[in-house]
Formats: sequence, structure tokens, C-alpha cells
Amino acid sequence: MCGIVGYIGQQDSKEVLLNGLAKLEYRGYDSAGIALLNEDGINLFKVKGRIATLRESVDAGVHATMGIGHTRWATHGEPSEENAHPHQSTSGRFTLVHNGVIENYQDIKKEYLQDVVFRSETDTEVVVQLIEKLFEKNQDTLVSFRQAMEMLEGSYAIALIDNEDSDTLYVSKNKSPLLVGLGEGFNVVASDAMATLKETDQYLEIHDKEIVIVKRDAVTIQKLDGSVVERNPYTAQIDASDIEKGTYEHFMLKEIDEQPIVMRKIIKEYQDEAGELTLDEDIRAAMKAADRIYIIAAGTSYHAGLVGKNLIEKVAGIPVEVHVSSEFSYNMPLLSEKPLFIFISQSGETADSRAVLVKIKEMGHPALTVTNVPGSTLSREADYTLHLHAGPEIAVASTKAYTAQIAVLAILAVDTAKVKGIELDFDLMQELAIVANGIDALTGQKEELESLTRDYLETTRNAFFLGRSLDYYVSLEGALKLKEISYIQAEGFAGGELKHGTIALIEKGTPVIALATQANVNYSIRGNVQEVVARGANAMIISMKGLEQDDDAFVLPAVHELLTPLMSVVPLQIIAYYAALHRGADVDKPRNLAKSVTVE
Ligand code: M6R
Repeated sequence: MCGIVGYIGQQDSKEVLLNGLAKLEYRGYDSAGIALLNEDGINLFKVKGRIATLRESVDAGVHATMGIGHTRWATHGEPSEENAHPHQSTSGRFTLVHNGVIENYQDIKKEYLQDVVFRSETDTEVVVQLIEKLFEKNQDTLVSFRQAMEMLEGSYAIALIDNEDSDTLYVSKNKSPLLVGLGEGFNVVASDAMATLKETDQYLEIHDKEIVIVKRDAVTIQKLDGSVVERNPYTAQIDASDIEKGTYEHFMLKEIDEQPIVMRKIIKEYQDEAGELTLDEDIRAAMKAADRIYIIAAGTSYHAGLVGKNLIEKVAGIPVEVHVSSEFSYNMPLLSEKPLFIFISQSGETADSRAVLVKIKEMGHPALTVTNVPGSTLSREADYTLHLHAGPEIAVASTKAYTAQIAVLAILAVDTAKVKGIELDFDLMQELAIVANGIDALTGQKEELESLTRDYLETTRNAFFLGRSLDYYVSLEGALKLKEISYIQAEGFAGGELKHGTIALIEKGTPVIALATQANVNYSIRGNVQEVVARGANAMIISMKGLEQDDDAFVLPAVHELLTPLMSVVPLQIIAYYAALHRGADVDKPRNLAKSVTVE
């Protein structure tokens, strides 16, 4: 959470910073600021609100060839101008932006900064004040920066300016993402390469607890002990057009529509010309060796994990447990003898999942990350990675990553089955191609789905999603999609659980969206719908060709029974989109949320 951009070069840094921050708004968007260093010293601009507001507040007359910027998701202190970054030390000499959470900031404050008058409620200000305090003693910025980084506990990505030195940006990170982008006569710093892709596609990874000294024409990476680290840059594989909305009003709708393309890309990336699956031999060996798989994920990725469990157990015959990453450490189950951990994460940066990864690596267990961002923390720190190939997902509400996650898990399941010599009676890639065509058809039915949204969700304060078997897992995802962007209180329920409590909430007009894509429970889920209708619910059934009945509100094209979530989720994504749109909500940037949850 929070996004950082820094620039040091020859041109005016304002535009690089503001454009970069706009690209990082998905990381948090409750306040923002930039600091520009020129011959007049530091020029600071901070606002409560979005980058568009910040842009209006920046004095166009200020020119500076060096600066840092930040877009914030508040952790310590409410969203306000005072709490917005950059933060400055008391003398004004040091200016700093930070992403993450400093866990020992209260201790540092008490021990070293008792005489300092703080201007914000943030943990970040403690860091910049600490640097100044250390500098008072040693009169060396690099030494003070290094000493401060040594003292910090928690997660941080930091960029610092010393206004007496217009030739250096000081940068460091621990657990939070940060990259250095390399240019001709300039260098940039960013939480995500997306932010500075216009400037360069050459990036240097920064590892935890490294200190990076960024100058206009040189970048030096050091360890905390001062020893120099050599590292080659890599080329960022992002197409600039992937991070633009194009003709779409919202990224979410664009990303929903991209799902067939993503499905076809996955089919292409995971098979060779002879039609054989192309998974890494190491991954195959790890899957074969595992006596139990533990899937760890959060939010939408957790919901994809539930579907993945069904696939891996049914197709590959390996028992699977799925755990919410934030709970795993406290409620760790008794592990099997040969566990394999699979981390599912669109961003590859989710802090709760990373905490589990660190823990299980300490215990010596193997880990596979399924992610959309191969260079991400979860990807780098796991033993193996499977790439989603979904292209950048910008809308906070995850859509194409969910379907990509399920498709890749299906490929993993089928590949493992083949490795284990299990005979399968279907060709997965053909089935995924059918899914791609089916989603194409669904994205062409938006008017119908918008009209259903009006009929069922227009004025309601709450909504229920019902399903059994795989449909239950999708109902959880449908409810998450609806609540996070429209703010309608929504819950997903297993049909069989209704009479154990939830049905008490049903009253006249309560919207219920039921999924009926599973042949073996078609009768019983329809029975559940009758039960809620009898109590006044405004219920609709989304069914699948072959299982449909006359009054069903929407019928999905038929796909393989193991892959139905890839279809049934799409109308729920579209319905959530229109519900949010009709309420005037900010579809791509819902309140209180951020795309990457990089704090625990
Ligand atoms: O990047 P990750 O997949 O690890 O993110 C996990 C969740 O934060 C994410 O899926 C979240 O629930 C989405 N906003 C849901 O649309």
C-alpha cells in the first residue's frame, strides 16, 4: 500500500512524479504529495485526496531536476494534508517518503526523539526525524541513513532527499516493494515499474535491507555493512498500452472484457506446438513429491484457491487445504510430512501471504507462487513461480486475475495428473478454449446484465449470493465483488447453510442471486431458492445451458463441469460493475481500499 516515485536527472521532475503517482494510485489514494529540490531548496506540495487534486496544487512555475512523490493509503494517522508524505525533519534539511509500517516507531520516539515536536501522526515522520538526530552527531547523510535503516523494524520502502545535496537520492527497502529504473543521464525510483515505464524499461531489483545511492549517472547498491553489491538490470515486460484505459470508462470493465484474451494467452503460454503442457520439471517434481498441498491466499485469490483445491483434488488426487493468509500463522494446522505450499497472489506483494512464506521457508518447506507479477516479492522468495499472463490488473476489484488463477491451477492439476499417470477423459486446453469463447459471449450480454442489476440491486442495502459445491465458492467471490465496489452489504452462502441461520435475514424484497451450474445439486439449490422466495426474497437464478429452467434470469453457455466458475463469475463481475456505476461509486478505486495490500 502507498506508492513511491523518485526522479533525479536533467529534466523537470514534476511531470515524471505526477504521472508516475497517477499510475501508482491503485496502491492507495487518500492523500498525496511531492517534494521538489531546486536552488531555492525543497518545494513541498501535499493534499488530502487524489493525484488530480495534487496536480492542481503544484505550482507550475517551480522547476526542479530532482524530486520524490507519494500516494498514500493511511495506516498511522487519518488521511490529511499533515499526514500526507513527503515528511520533513524539524530543520527541513531531510525530506522523505515511505511505504510500509514501522513497527518500533513508538520505541524510537521514546528513546531518541523525546525533544522533537512532531507535525504528523505518522510512523514515517519518526524515520526522518531519526535521520536528522543521527546526522547531528555524525554529520554524514549516508551514515545516518544507514544507521536509521539498521534501527527500523517492520516494512518499509523509503526515498530520502538531503536538501544540501542535489546530486543524491537515498533509497532503501525491507519487505515493501521498490525498484530503481535506469536511464541516460537520469535515474528513477518506483514502487512498481508501471509508474516510470515512460522513462525506462531497465530496472534494478533492490533486496531487503540494501541501501541504494541514486545519482543522475550512477547507482550504487550497498549492504548495511557498506559493502558494494553488483547486480544486472532486467527489462520490464510491460506493454505501455496495457496500463491505459483506452476507450473504456473504467479499468474494471476493460479487464472483464480482457478475460477471453487472457484465457487464450494462458493456453498458448502453457503448451508447446505439439499440444504438450510445458510446466517446469522442478514444479512437476515438487507436485509429485507433495503428500498435501496448502494453498495460501487472500481475498479474490483465496476464492480462486478454493476452486483450485477442487481441481487439484479431483484431477491430480492430492489432498489440498486452502487458508486465508492472515489467519494461517495463528491457526497453523498440523502439517503433513511432505507439504507443498502454493501462494496465489495477483500482485505477488500481499504482506500477509509473504509473512506465511517467510515462516514456511524457515521451516524448510517448498513453495510455489502463482502470480501475475513474476518479479514480485512472493515470486522471488518462493522456489517456483507460475505466471498468470493476465497483463497488468489496475482496477482494485480483481477480475481477470481470478479467472487466470483458476485456469493456471487447472493446468497445474492436469499436468500433475499426467505426471502421475492418471488417465483423464478431457482435453483441458480444448475446454479452456471453449471457456474463452463462452466468456466472449457473456461480455456481449452486458445490456441484459445491466438490466438485471436494475431489477434486483438498484436500491437495496444488502444482497445474498447462494450456491452449492463450486457455485458456493463463486458466490463468495460474487459477494466480495459487489460489496467492495458498490458498498452494498453482500454475503455468499452455501445453499445448505441457509436454514441454519441466514434465512432469518430474508425479508420482502431481499435480493438473492443463486447460481445453478452444478448438475449434482441443481435440484437442491433450486429448492433453496424456493425457500427464500416463500419468505419474500427477490431471487434470480443464473444457471448453465443444459441445467436451465424456464424462469431462470440468465443462462450461461455450457463448459466442462470442473471449469464452471470461469463462466459463472463473469455475470457477477458485470452485475457488480453496474451496481457500483449506478450508485455513482468510484468503480476502479473504491473507498478505503488499495490494490496491493502490502501491510499486514
Ligand atoms: O494481490 P493479491 O491477489 O494477493 O491480493 C489479494 C486481495 O487483496 C485481492 O484479491 C482483493 O481481495 C481484491 N480487491 C478483490 O477484488
